[in-house]
Amino acid sequence: MMRRTLALAVLLATVPSLAHAQMPAGYDPDESHIQPYTLLDPLTFSDGSRVNTAADWPRRRTELLRLFEQNVYGRTPEAAKHIPLRFHVDEADTPALGGKALRRQITVYFSARREDGPKEHLLLYLPANAHGPIPVVIGLNFFGNQTVLADPGIRLNPVWARAQHTTGPAHLETPAESTRGMQTQEWQVEKVLARGYAFATIYCGDIDPDFTDSIQLGVRPLFYAPGQTAPAAEDWGALGTWAWGLSRAVDYLQTDRHVAPHRIAVTGHSRLGKAADWAAAQDPRFAIILSTESGKAGQSLYRRRYGEDIRHLEHSFPHWFCQNYAKWVGRETEIPVDGNLMLSLLAPRPVYVASAKDDLWSDPRGEFLSAVDASRVYRLLGHQGLVTTEFPPVDHPVDTPVQHDVAYHIRTGKHDVTAYDWDQYLSFLDLHWGRRQ
Ligand code: GCU
Repeated sequence: MMRRTLALAVLLATVPSLAHAQMPAGYDPDESHIQPYTLLDPLTFSDGSRVNTAADWPRRRTELLRLFEQNVYGRTPEAAKHIPLRFHVDEADTPALGGKALRRQITVYFSARREDGPKEHLLLYLPANAHGPIPVVIGLNFFGNQTVLADPGIRLNPVWARAQHTTGPAHLETPAESTRGMQTQEWQVEKVLARGYAFATIYCGDIDPDFTDSIQLGVRPLFYAPGQTAPAAEDWGALGTWAWGLSRAVDYLQTDRHVAPHRIAVTGHSRLGKAADWAAAQDPRFAIILSTESGKAGQSLYRRRYGEDIRHLEHSFPHWFCQNYAKWVGRETEIPVDGNLMLSLLAPRPVYVASAKDDLWSDPRGEFLSAVDASRVYRLLGHQGLVTTEFPPVDHPVDTPVQHDVAYHIRTGKHDVTAYDWDQYLSFLDLHWGRRQ
């Protein structure tokens, strides 16, 4: 137990702010001090003309995608979208979890020939008793596939050992046995399987390590122009690469005959929620989005100027973004994108937006108001948005007995993913795809 706790502490040190409680010093927690603000309008083109009908939407959508590329995440290189992948099934259909699941592990090589270049390791569980193509929930994990569940069969693929605050060279290390299952609570894999869904995950560091001077170590140099040694203004940051890595996993999943190819839901927490949002914004194959506390640079609103600001994001995590993002430090009311526009890019696909009461840093009400505003796009496209504009009480998901496409809850507790979040997500999937168990 002691070793396990120690290993967890060491790993968490690589993401110090994951443990952030309420509002850090220097940030005002009093919402009554928020200055008046105006939201950007998803239904107005940049030239001021109106999006009047659903037929106008694709053009506005293209404009919004471009604005996010230019100002926040950077562009996914064209070459990266067409890279010849190679899938190697390292383990096929091994009975796991006391017979409740079949486990598959796949390496996705980002090169048809080289094995030594960047690659991602996909862990996939299929519920053993399910029939037919199975809908799947996929998400990036923070600390390695072995952390999502204490299953001794999960391969201990290398993880980045370097803590953000150390100066030593970054290196990959085989994780300790004791790290198995250390994020069981956050992932609730057994719950997902028990409800009849498959579960897939990838370690984000396989794609791009999560520290500031990581560029040479991830996938970005693979796509440099000849002679290029550093990112250009609109080149993608780590969030962009993580989103791309999720799409490459979908490339595999769509070849797997056990998986329902058009029922792939993406989930993510916090920075990996931001990545999940951006993945789904670019890739329509993500059919449902379950996003937990994605906060600023995710689904929350810069314009409320409450909680995290661009200054903090850019100074603490410059590697997440394109170089242009730095221009917007201190200019939350000028940046031409915001959380409501991100949610609009997900329309009309079902999206579940989840906040936590003590996660003021992400600005829960900002996440809610984004969902309210983006619901106008859902309605324009003939779908049902959020069914209320009233901020719901804690632990009361905004729900209706009829099918709706935008859901929201704020739950008790801190910045985290809990069994409560998963219960709502699974019910949301049942609502849209039909109850499986
Ligand atoms: C930090 C960061 C957030 C991010 C979070 C996380 O707190 O400021 O933007 O969402 O880390 O990824 O847990």
